[in-house]
Amino acid sequence: MYSIDAAQLATDIDTLATIVEPGTRGTTRRAFTAAYRASRSWVRTCMHEAGLVVDMDAAGNLVGRYPGLRPDAPVIMLGSHTDTVMEGGRFDGAIGVLGAIAVVRALRAHAITLQHTIEVVDFLAEESTPLGSLIGSTAMAQGFTAEYLARHVPGWGDVASCIAAMGGQPAQLTDPLRTSGMIGAYLELHIEQGPVLEAANVPIGVVTGIVGIRRCDVICHGRPDHAGTAGMQHRHDALAVAAAVILAAERAAQQRPGTVATVGSLTVAPNQTNVVPGSVRFSLEMRSVHWPEVLAIWDECMQALTDAATHRGVMCEVTPYEDSPPLSFAPWYTAIVADAVAPWTPTVVHVPSGAGHDGSMIGVIAPVAMIFVRTKDGRSHCPEEFAAHADIVAGVNAMLHTVCALDAVLA
Ligand code: HGY
Ligand code: MN
Ligand code: MN
Repeated sequence: MYSIDAAQLATDIDTLATIVEPGTRGTTRRAFTAAYRASRSWVRTCMHEAGLVVDMDAAGNLVGRYPGLRPDAPVIMLGSHTDTVMEGGRFDGAIGVLGAIAVVRALRAHAITLQHTIEVVDFLAEESTPLGSLIGSTAMAQGFTAEYLARHVPGWGDVASCIAAMGGQPAQLTDPLRTSGMIGAYLELHIEQGPVLEAANVPIGVVTGIVGIRRCDVICHGRPDHAGTAGMQHRHDALAVAAAVILAAERAAQQRPGTVATVGSLTVAPNQTNVVPGSVRFSLEMRSVHWPEVLAIWDECMQALTDAATHRGVMCEVTPYEDSPPLSFAPWYTAIVADAVAPWTPTVVHVPSGAGHDGSMIGVIAPVAMIFVRTKDGRSHCPEEFAAHADIVAGVNAMLHTVCALDAVLA
């Protein structure tokens, strides 16, 4: 039974985890930061040393190729991301990219030549920043509108310039970089970031699909006033409007089992104890495996925003920037993954993903499957995020065997 070089993978995970934004807790390597730029040149070297031919596409995705015997056949794509959330963990995304590199290392070590070219992709900016999320995979599979590329975010710049600063060519991104038929199958290894595998006492599992997510940016324009002299009936308090939406989102999701909704980031201006908040900018996201539930939560939140803003004379701007509908993985593909996972786990457990992944974008143009690795206490997006190395190795070995099986069945 072929297997990967577990020690080298451990070294790679540990090395990548040292490339972080200075003075931060956990693993902080947000997209478009200097730390992220430094980490990607390390990833590029890692890919090269593993024998991949490395290039960067117009979206700023790092793409390493391991050529197959049939260069014109659709590729088998293995991918994930190496950017992180603020004060996140060292495993989210990283094990997918470094695990894919380890798969190619093993193919070379065992002199396994495949029919299909293997592509290992480090997608640009999977995590949410004020500029958006799933940026590299959306560019690859869908392309962007001109207004999205021109979207400017204070403190970050405009989307096109940020992509260019990472080495991309935004002018080419109004059309998708790939189309149906070019990718025979996409496979991603990722930590589960949830409780199911730990509760089932198994190291890895087969993912059944990815949750649907809608995300938007909201700006409320109220009026700053003296907190002591402005009467309550004369105020235009922007933060009070945001508070109404925060509680509406929580209530709407609590009333719908299996859905979630969050206001995760919020900035207040002038953010001063004795000043009535003049303006607020916040993010809003909602998720469900049933898209109509996402839309129902959306409607309730927008109604709450309108009522609260009207009552206070506050003007609001809502900018939706992500709509990734739920994606169920094809049974023919999850069956191949289940066969490859079986030798590395006492039982084969199937689990849905409550987290978003680049696969939800690639699913627009190719079959997608994922392998999950058990996550301690089900926690992620925090310094406490942890996955045992033996579990990660089991997942990467299952990925290796899935690739070999795909190579035999794909056209
Ligand atoms: O937000 C998510 O679900 C993913 O971690 N980006
Ligand atoms: Mn994440
Ligand atoms: Mn991730």
